[in-house]
Amino acid sequence: MVDVLLGLQWGDEGKGKIVDVLAPQYQVVARFQGGPNAGHTLEFDGFKHVLHQIPSGIFRAEAKNIIGNGVVLDPIVFKREIDGLAKYNLDLGQNLFISKKASIILPTHRLLDAAYEQAKGAAKIGSTLRGIGPTYQDKVARQGLRVGDVLSPNFRQKYTTLVTAHKVTLDHHGFDYASTLPQLEEEFFAAVDFMKQFRLVDSEYEVNNALKAGQKVLAEGAQGSLLDIDFGSYPFVTSSSTMAAGACTGLGVAPRQIGEVYGIFKAYCTRVGSGPFPTELLDEEGERMRQEGREFGSTTGRPRRCGWLDLPALKYAIMINGVTQLIMMKVDVLNIFETIKVCTHYQLPDGSTTEQFPYDLCDTDVTPVYKEFKGWHTALDNFRTFDEVPAELAAYIDFLEAELNLPISFISTGPDRQAVIHREAVV
Ligand code: GDP
Ligand code: IMO
Ligand code: MG
Repeated sequence: MVDVLLGLQWGDEGKGKIVDVLAPQYQVVARFQGGPNAGHTLEFDGFKHVLHQIPSGIFRAEAKNIIGNGVVLDPIVFKREIDGLAKYNLDLGQNLFISKKASIILPTHRLLDAAYEQAKGAAKIGSTLRGIGPTYQDKVARQGLRVGDVLSPNFRQKYTTLVTAHKVTLDHHGFDYASTLPQLEEEFFAAVDFMKQFRLVDSEYEVNNALKAGQKVLAEGAQGSLLDIDFGSYPFVTSSSTMAAGACTGLGVAPRQIGEVYGIFKAYCTRVGSGPFPTELLDEEGERMRQEGREFGSTTGRPRRCGWLDLPALKYAIMINGVTQLIMMKVDVLNIFETIKVCTHYQLPDGSTTEQFPYDLCDTDVTPVYKEFKGWHTALDNFRTFDEVPAELAAYIDFLEAELNLPISFISTGPDRQAVIHREAVV
């Protein structure tokens, strides 16, 4: 079976940590979409490590880690990531596989990302400027380069054809590339050569052969459901399918192979970049949340926008993904609050209320309607099961499980691998 683990909000829910926690139960961990726009943080044994393209099972020697065909891979970032892992003495030659069908991010994709954002002015998406949108654009336009192309004798020629087209667009935008591109290209080709030492494979066979042999596969999502290209708060989204269905196309597995769908959400909400965020707190309370949760982007360092948990948005994400189990993250961040709020529905400008995530969220001012809970004001470090947690937290969990009609399998109470409270005692 392929279990899928994905974010139910606007990204940064804590996917990396939970993939690392669950990875020992799996023989294969695979990323199925996104690229270096992701920043997945793992903390263990006093180390803190942020992964961007490499799956978060990489620190568990038992798991094969696969970068799937749905991913857009930047060779320069890849080389940097591998260099950054050197101190851990991992057997990467053995455990890391890259799909030949994954798309390659070229230096000009990054420049195009910047040019498009500049052209949008105040309407910019707030992209991570990692070249994600332009690379997926070329994939869909059937002119992109793929990892398997680096093995072809015509690779340089294919590269030049595409870059020539990119330069026309950059010129059109009046974007200066002459001063930066030569250096970036040098780095790019060195990184492409470096990448060739790794296992470049037909990853759909790797995954399906593992399934045939009865092995378990964990598909690691990046970004979050509300950033999905189809169902997110368009156009303020990323350019890939971040939902459970994306695991099928991003790895080459059939829908009937999907088992559990783990939906991860923070006990509150955050968002980086532009776009609608109904429960956003623009006041001192939001600032306290940001400081307590250390809500600064893992990839870009930008401050994350913060707000209360949004149930209409969460129910929507659960629906489109067919979530089977929930995992609630960063519960410890709410320890400091006297009152905890949860948005149960939205009030629309005409006075009516809705529990649906509106189509025109970008143009409609919805007012969140909140239910309030008493805070628990207790450090959660020493609790290990749901039975032990403070009554106020237990009430909050019960309410969410009833509203969302799903079990919360465990909650996370700190960045470390060990900081997890389970429903029942783990033996
Ligand atoms: P991802 O992109 O979904 O993997 O999440 P990020 O790594 O971008 O952001 C999550 C941040 O929260 C990281 O800095 C984690 O170390 C941290 N984190 C994860 N779980 C918890 C938790 O339960 N409590 C606290 N306080 N921090 C957490
Ligand atoms: P992880 O996997 C949070 C946001 C950007 C921007 C929008 C489009 O760490 O959760 P892009 O560079 O993809 O074109 O940017 O999506 N974004 C993320 N926000 N976490 C992420 O990844 C994100 N990846 C992209 O901030 O608003
Ligand atoms: Mg992140």
